[in-house]
Amino acid sequence: MHTKVGKDLVQVRKLLENDELVAIPTETVYGLAANALKDNALRKIFKTKNRPHHNPLIVHVPSIEAVSSIVTSIPPAALTLLTTFSPGPITLLLPRKTIIPDIVTAGLPNVAIRIPAHPLTLSLLSSLSFPLAAPSANIFGYISPTSPYHVQRQLNGLIPYILDGGNCTSGIESTIVGFDEDLPVVYRLGGISIEQLHQTIGEVRIHNSTNVSTPAAPGMLGQHYSPHTPLYLVDDISSYVQQFKNTEIGIICFSQLEKSVPGGQQLVLSPNGDLEEAAHNLYAAMHEMDTAGFKVILIRRFPDVGVGRAMNDRLRRASVKI
Ligand code: TXA
Ligand code: MG
Repeated sequence: MHTKVGKDLVQVRKLLENDELVAIPTETVYGLAANALKDNALRKIFKTKNRPHHNPLIVHVPSIEAVSSIVTSIPPAALTLLTTFSPGPITLLLPRKTIIPDIVTAGLPNVAIRIPAHPLTLSLLSSLSFPLAAPSANIFGYISPTSPYHVQRQLNGLIPYILDGGNCTSGIESTIVGFDEDLPVVYRLGGISIEQLHQTIGEVRIHNSTNVSTPAAPGMLGQHYSPHTPLYLVDDISSYVQQFKNTEIGIICFSQLEKSVPGGQQLVLSPNGDLEEAAHNLYAAMHEMDTAGFKVILIRRFPDVGVGRAMNDRLRRASVKI
């Protein structure tokens, strides 16, 4: 199959109406989209990504009204989150209506829904008569794509079209919030920080599944997002540098180059030390380092605040456990 890269929304709409897959841009990462109401379209997502069927999919809609058409109720805190952060990197787990097929939720009673903040994808969603189910557009277990090029590298020849929306602005997956008797529970750290949630809806519980060492809730896998090159998440780079030959090490730095390794083997995510900017550049740096031929990639833990927590979460899953 030939994979086209372009911005032709008419062609994309036709493909999706014919139950084909299209990679779509969002503000977080690229998604691998299909008609969320059609079993045969949805099965292609799992097959193409090599994704296990017990891992449910997020359903993307263009508006809050569209959310109401696929869920049976919206708790007050969920509505507050939707009105405050949507379109944006927040996903809510809400009781599904029966039009949502079992394959979308892996048989669970709740469906994950989100309104992505990307103009091309929002206009696509508004023009369709059905919502789009879309996991991240990577082969299962590998680093999520934040550019059309990352998608092409992984899915070229496997899907007909990549909708080119440029580089993802936020660069880290959405925050997933569910509700236990109407009380909010965070199932995945992401683009909306815990601090932002506190400010909006008060206390939130953080589910155990966000801890890599505890048994995972659906999809919250301990090992995920991994480059092929072993990646080490560490507190002190210099002690690790001594364990490997200097030329074998690639380093992803937050704001400053490490002195012990040549600058050409390093990538700086945010010279000004801005966590949002670092999140925007993180996956692209991981993709780049993974194709540069190093034996190991080292990265220092980020400050555990704001989006830094979500970055540490992804890197803990992506890294060699030490
Ligand atoms: O930012 C994002 O959320 C991106 C873009 C494309 O929207 N999507 C994304 O999808 O990250 P994916 O499939 O890579 O991760 C979705 C996560 C999985 O861990 C899955 O287990 C969880 O959401 N999830 C989906 N539906 C669920 C449900 N009904 N109950 C619990 N967890 C669910
Ligand atoms: Mg994913």
